[in-house]
Amino acid sequence: MNTIPHRPVFHYTAPTNWINDPNGLAFHDGRYHLHFQYNPNGSKWGDIHWGHASSADLVSWRDEPIALAPSPGDDAGGCFSGCHALVDGVHTLYYTGYTAERQVQCVATSSDLRHWTKQPQRTLATPPAGVEGHDFRDPYVFRHDGRWYMVVGASRDHEQGQALLYRSDDGITWEDRGALYTSPSDRHGRMWECPNFFPIGDRWVLTVSLWLGLGVHAFVGRFEHERFVPEWDGPLDVDAGAFAHLTMQGPDGRTLQWAWMNEQREQAAIDADGWAGAMTVPRELSIDAHGRLNLRPVAEIARLRGEPVARVTGLRGSGEHVRFSGAVLDIEARFAGRDRGKVGLMLRTSADGRETTRIVYWQDARRLSIERERSSLSPQVRHQDVHAHLALAPDEALNLRVLLDGSVLEVYANDRLCLSTRVYPTLPDSLQASAFSDGPATLDLRAWTMGPILPAERPVLSAG
Ligand code: FRU
Repeated sequence: MNTIPHRPVFHYTAPTNWINDPNGLAFHDGRYHLHFQYNPNGSKWGDIHWGHASSADLVSWRDEPIALAPSPGDDAGGCFSGCHALVDGVHTLYYTGYTAERQVQCVATSSDLRHWTKQPQRTLATPPAGVEGHDFRDPYVFRHDGRWYMVVGASRDHEQGQALLYRSDDGITWEDRGALYTSPSDRHGRMWECPNFFPIGDRWVLTVSLWLGLGVHAFVGRFEHERFVPEWDGPLDVDAGAFAHLTMQGPDGRTLQWAWMNEQREQAAIDADGWAGAMTVPRELSIDAHGRLNLRPVAEIARLRGEPVARVTGLRGSGEHVRFSGAVLDIEARFAGRDRGKVGLMLRTSADGRETTRIVYWQDARRLSIERERSSLSPQVRHQDVHAHLALAPDEALNLRVLLDGSVLEVYANDRLCLSTRVYPTLPDSLQASAFSDGPATLDLRAWTMGPILPAERPVLSAG
């Protein structure tokens, strides 16, 4: 039994039941549209439909009718992930139709983003040689040089993840153009899901999710002769913990990204709550002067801030200090003049100290972690740490932006790394937060409570 709520208030979750990947991002008639993988019949993965929510300002959302439902034929087993494109003025969803036999790329069109008509004759059914019909999914369509391109996630011979490339003049008939990019080694995933390929300035970014929820890879490089050429020989540490990243270009030109945060607890605990899965907040992506991919929550998120609960400036100290409390918080913490050892934050700490979640920057190892070992006394939740490399220059301050929202925790560091995970404290007083540093460090910290993005009363998602 949960004694304290785990449901987030400023991250999108379905009113009931299971969600996974963000899908079909679009801007239309002054509203942002977020679709997502949705099971209307349960709080675990299965019978996958496309759910839908929309927002005029990225902070106030409303639920919309279900967009796509499986029907006899190519998508009888589920409407898997995909994207939105405006093709000759027609709203078009490209998605994967799933059956036990195969996965094919399907199309649906609409004039109002509410009523969708499937176009079975436009199905792209056959994967190229070396790719099995079960390893062929998650189309992402974009326009470039006067043509349409589609990237599809795949596995070559069950060995290497691949992003396959197709080209089209009309968005209807597709020509196989080979692999846009293939996993540089099997360390980088045997099957790539949810490929997303987009330009920022003069660079191109490729993100892929590693099958079985093993994480996301982000590559930055160039798009030349229909091939992706990465600038570095491996993926960048950009986001650890979230999955199935998808972007859209906002009306103001910003590159906006969402990703899915899976549950980290056993099904019995999920069923007791009746909902599963959350979206990250919308993020804004950019490329910095070093050619690195940067990400941060969109500026609009700050509009959800309520009462400040902590504020310190230029505090030089060590040990544990600056105590405040809350389960729904936006925290900005800057650690400058760091001396040695570890610095970080403790969240959701109980009065008796048995429960706590630590965000730790290990200065020697140049590693940022979320330590979950003591985040919950429940045996039904995962306790592994989430961590990634973060190479700060010796004189570079650590800038943390922490979004804590019930069970959701997103930690953005210096605009170039995000760690995200889920924590499920059990004690009603697991609400304390504090900062710590082994050696002296100068701390600026501000924290606010956060308001909700959805009405309190939400009917279940229904068919349109
Ligand atoms: C990624 C994924 C996709 C697939 C969808 C099914 O989480 O496995 O590859 O389209 O989820 O829900």
